[in-house]
Amino acid sequence: MNPTPFTVTITRNGPCIVAGGVPMAQQHIVTDAQGESIEWRKGDHFAVAQTYALCRCGQSATKPFCDGSHSRVGFDGTETASRDAYDRQAERIEGSSQKTDRKVR
Ligand code: FES
Repeated sequence: MNPTPFTVTITRNGPCIVAGGVPMAQQHIVTDAQGESIEWRKGDHFAVAQTYALCRCGQSATKPFCDGSHSRVGFDGTETASRDAYDRQAERIEGSSQKTDRKVR
């Protein structure tokens, strides 16, 4: 007998539905003294369920799980990443100029 395949279904303006009894655990970013990320540290494991609804809107009070808040906040899940080349996405931002009366050495 084949094991149940894992599936991930993105719902319209709602959570990701993960099915198949996928084990899930927290991962924490460990930083150095300068605040730079240096590694991942394993955290708690969640009880394995056959199906999870994972929050995609960032508003759930029970992250990483969906609590239905996406409906309350009117989450628009249609945003996608641009496929334009990086230099075509770049934007020039002019800064303010500074003047000084002192000679800089
Ligand atoms: S996707 Fe449902 S609460 Fe975020």
